[in-house]
Amino acid sequence: MAQQSEVAASSSWPAQFLHYVSRRRQRFYGIIAIMVVMLAAATFIYGGFATGIDFGSYVPRPKDALPPAHNSGATGADGITHGGNGANGGHPPVQTQIPVAPGTQTQTETGTETQTGSGSGQSTTQTQTQTQAPAVQVQPGIPTKIWQILLPKSSSKSKDNFVADPKILAETPTWLAKNPDYTYTLVGQKGGDEFVRKHFGDNARLVEAYTQMPNVGMKSDLLRYLILSAEGGVYTDTDTVALRPIDGWVPEKYRDKAAVVVGIEFDRRDGPGWTDISHWVQFCQWTIAASPGHPVFGKMVDRILASLDDLVAAHGVPIGKLGKLDSFEVMNSTGPAAFTDVVFAQLQEYDPSLSDTKDLSYMEEPKLFGDILVLSIDGFGMGQPHSKSTSDGSIPEDALVRHLFSGAWRGDGKKRRM
Ligand SMILES: *[C@@H]1O[C@H](CO)[C@@H](O)[C@H](O)[C@H]1NC(C)=O
Repeated sequence: MAQQSEVAASSSWPAQFLHYVSRRRQRFYGIIAIMVVMLAAATFIYGGFATGIDFGSYVPRPKDALPPAHNSGATGADGITHGGNGANGGHPPVQTQIPVAPGTQTQTETGTETQTGSGSGQSTTQTQTQTQAPAVQVQPGIPTKIWQILLPKSSSKSKDNFVADPKILAETPTWLAKNPDYTYTLVGQKGGDEFVRKHFGDNARLVEAYTQMPNVGMKSDLLRYLILSAEGGVYTDTDTVALRPIDGWVPEKYRDKAAVVVGIEFDRRDGPGWTDISHWVQFCQWTIAASPGHPVFGKMVDRILASLDDLVAAHGVPIGKLGKLDSFEVMNSTGPAAFTDVVFAQLQEYDPSLSDTKDLSYMEEPKLFGDILVLSIDGFGMGQPHSKSTSDGSIPEDALVRHLFSGAWRGDGKKRRM
């Protein structure tokens, strides 16, 4: 009874409303009402597209890629296909040290000493281990922090009040559940801006590069290196699944030595070269673990700034006007090709016998070089149809993370899964 009268009451309000209007007006208001509903629906749908986010991850695309032999000459001619042309990819040796950690003395490009970070106690672990010594002392071990980045696509009209579909974070609980006592931070646009200002605010060039980044994927790339440099912990893309607790990532025997953990995403082995992959073995940057202040991230920032200079020179426009870059330009400026150059150069510093990333091919188990632990393909790169990655549906023993490859960084708006 009560229910019925409620229904009756709720269905009577339009009747009451319509009671006030004439027949003719009823039709008029009816049309207005339909238009309002249609407008609302259109806004909703458009908003859904406009707020599409970019995972900011560089997924190797061997699936789409063709071995050079099958490619049209165009690809080879513009220098995109180049199988394993050395660790440095023709990049000049890193000259400058960008601030790597709060309270660390570092050198800027002009050779003047600057001090980064106020050391205002935002991270006690850091301030204890980072001294004013010119050589950066990096403490082994990974701080108990997990970072993800969620930035609105550059094209989003509603960038300032960007709200993502919660489904984007569907895998995040795997990280939380497997890593109690780790702090978790989802860095958005505002947080990213603030982070850069707070930790690197006195590096005008870097702030400019961050602010002007031609696309959100590149911005997300730069931000992850800066976060790991200043705070350390684990950075992982939002489309990754945690398979094992982070505490167990570094094998026992390396725990007092490893300060950075990187994974392999591509290992050419004895196969042909792939479009857009310039190294024989490429590291991924969808997941990276690090102790704060490791020089590899400062060098990565230097590399990004150098790459931006090169791109600006090549295209003849300022950073902010670079607009659409091709996928290799992105991968080779902020993405995995650039990351591989820098990490491999660091490995070579530790082990001069390394001459090419090919020397890391066929790795079957994690290997420590200096303080950098390199995982074999399944560590971060399981489930891919290449590189001898385990992709039979099973989860191998040494798999730590599963990447779902749902990033839409190429700007074609299509989500792809492998
Ligand atoms: C990658 O980028 C670096 C830095 O901009 C540049 O020196 C190098 O030539 C590029 N590599 C290729 C293969 O284009």
